[in-house]
Amino acid sequence: MHQHFPLLIVGNWKMNPATVTQARKLFQAIVERMPLHLQRVLTVIAPPFPFLADLRSLNTKDTLSLAAQGVYFEALGAHTGEVSATMVKSVSAKYVIIGHSEQRAKGLSDEEVAKDIQAALAQGLTAIVCVGELMRDAGGNYFGVVEGQLRAAVAGLTAKDTARVVIAYEPVWAIGTGNTATAAEVHEMKLFIQKVLADVLGRERATAMRIVYGGSTNKKNAKELLEVGLVDGFLIGGASLRAAEFVTIVRIAETYAKGIAKTR
Ligand code: PGA
Repeated sequence: MHQHFPLLIVGNWKMNPATVTQARKLFQAIVERMPLHLQRVLTVIAPPFPFLADLRSLNTKDTLSLAAQGVYFEALGAHTGEVSATMVKSVSAKYVIIGHSEQRAKGLSDEEVAKDIQAALAQGLTAIVCVGELMRDAGGNYFGVVEGQLRAAVAGLTAKDTARVVIAYEPVWAIGTGNTATAAEVHEMKLFIQKVLADVLGRERATAMRIVYGGSTNKKNAKELLEVGLVDGFLIGGASLRAAEFVTIVRIAETYAKGIAKTR
């Protein structure tokens, strides 16, 4: 069953689009299509760093929040190429994606993920923490992979932190491949993640945390992933670069969430 909190839909633009002009165009196309008074969905766009400050001025209807695609845990100093939590906060980011598999593949460790989460929380940002296995094996070892990443990420959290941490289950084999995990697989993993969270943080804090799904989400599979997968939202790559499709997914989520609110 879903919690009472709004669903969270995050568009992860990754290293797209190519120029600030194109970023403005895409952002405006999303803003124009966005419903004005969403009641049960929060929407977030994570553009590349250089576009963050620019896009905040285009968010005229305040229907979207901004996210950074990562932060480095140090506050200041000789860290060429890195960006701090304070910096992204100062250009209006409210969220930050941490531990994306595309960064883990380049060497981002569990230890650094944990430090980056702490740095983000210290600035009042909400951390969207990605976990997920590279592949699935018949023996179910992938559960262990997800558990390891999760335990490392949440071990240092305090009670008040948990409200500002979102877990994104992103099976790497499903990212950008068109191979979405089935809704049943996603649901099974959501329950597993909740169990691990409960073990580390206690049941109450665990059930208060959002668990979203990412990996080839689109307007065709979103409804089932919500209804059967029972996830609390999505982290969307490819489809977030198509304004109409992204907003369609937002609408699907709002309709779904209003529907379950009525049945309570
Ligand atoms: P995708 O990306 O939707 O293009 O599969 C998801 C992600 O990597 O966050």
